[in-house]
Amino acid sequence: MRIGMFCSGGDAPGMNACMRAVVRTALVRGHSVVGIRRGYEGLLEEDFYVGPDGAPEMTLRSVSGWTQFGGTFLLTSRSERFRTEEGLRSAADILRRHRIDALIPIGGDGTFRGALALAEYWDGRIVGCPGTIDNDLVGTDATIGFYTAVQTAVEAVDKIRDTAASHSRMFLIEVMGRSSGFLAVHTAIAAGAEVVCIPEAPYSIEELVEHLKELKQRGKTSVMAVVAEGYPLGGATALQQRLAQAGCPFGTRVVVLGHLQRGGSPTPEDRILATQLGCWAVEGLDEGQHLVMAGMRGGQKVYTPMVEAVSGHNPIPPRLIELIRVMAH
Ligand code: F6P
Repeated sequence: MRIGMFCSGGDAPGMNACMRAVVRTALVRGHSVVGIRRGYEGLLEEDFYVGPDGAPEMTLRSVSGWTQFGGTFLLTSRSERFRTEEGLRSAADILRRHRIDALIPIGGDGTFRGALALAEYWDGRIVGCPGTIDNDLVGTDATIGFYTAVQTAVEAVDKIRDTAASHSRMFLIEVMGRSSGFLAVHTAIAAGAEVVCIPEAPYSIEELVEHLKELKQRGKTSVMAVVAEGYPLGGATALQQRLAQAGCPFGTRVVVLGHLQRGGSPTPEDRILATQLGCWAVEGLDEGQHLVMAGMRGGQKVYTPMVEAVSGHNPIPPRLIELIRVMAH
C-alpha cells in the first residue's frame, strides 16, 4: 500500500511521535509512506515531503528523533478551499495521480469531517488518528496532545496561584478546548482550582456569585477559576465583567493561556499514546478498516467510525465536576 500521511487543524504535542510510528510500522509491514505537508491545503498544492535523496517516500530515518518534539514537522493548516466541492474533487484527482491507496490523517473534529467529505470523491481507504489538545472526540479516552496541554495549563495555574494568594485575588484562567470542557476539568482538578466553568455544566451568573460568596465565608482569600473558552457566558474576560456587575466578592484578574497550551515537548503519556495510535492506524488499514479513527479505551485498541467520533463530545464524567466542588471546601 502507498499511504499518504498528514496533520491537519490545530497542532498538538505528540503529532510527530504519531507520524514516526506510522512511518516505522508501515515500512516494517512492507508499505510506503508519502508525507503530505500542511494538511488538506498542502494536498491541494501537492506539497509533499521530499527526502534528502529527492524521493517523496519517507524512510525509516526520515522520522529519527521525532518523538520528543512538539508541533508537527509536516506542518498543518486549516483549509477553506478543501471544504468546497471543487477542492474535494481536485484533492481526489491528486491522490489518484500520485497513486496513493490510503490516507492516515492526524487531527481533530475538522480533520475527520474533511476525511468523510473526501471519501465521497475518492475510493482509497482512510484511518485517522485523534490529534488535538481538546480531547473532544468520541472513541478514545484521550487524544494526542491532551495530556501535555493539561501539564502546561497546570504549570501556569500553579504559578498564578502564588500571585493570587499574595494579593487575595480571584483569577479567571481561560483554557482552550473549543466547545469541550475536558481540558478545563483536568486542569482544575490537578491544579486544585476552586471553580471550573465548562459548557457541559454551566452556572448561571447568580449561582456562580453565590458559590464564590460561600467560598469567601469558608475562609478562602484567593480563588482559582478555570474557564473553558467555550463557556456559554463568554470566555474569561466576558465572565469577569458579568461577575463584577453581579457583585463578585473577590477582586479579579484574567489570564488567557491561549496557544501556549499547544506547544512544548509531549509528555511521556502523550508520546506513548501517539506511538500506539500511529501503529494501530497502519494495522487498521491492513485489516481493511475504512473511515474509522484509531483510539484507545481502557488501554485497548478501538476503531470508531469517524461519523461517530465527530458526532458528539467525549462526555465528562459528572463525578469529576463534583470532585472539584468537594475539593473547594
Ligand atoms: O482544536 C484545537 C484548538 O487549539 C482549540 O482548542 C482552539 O479553539 C483552536 O484550536 C484554536 O485554533 P487556531 O489556532 O486556528 O486559532
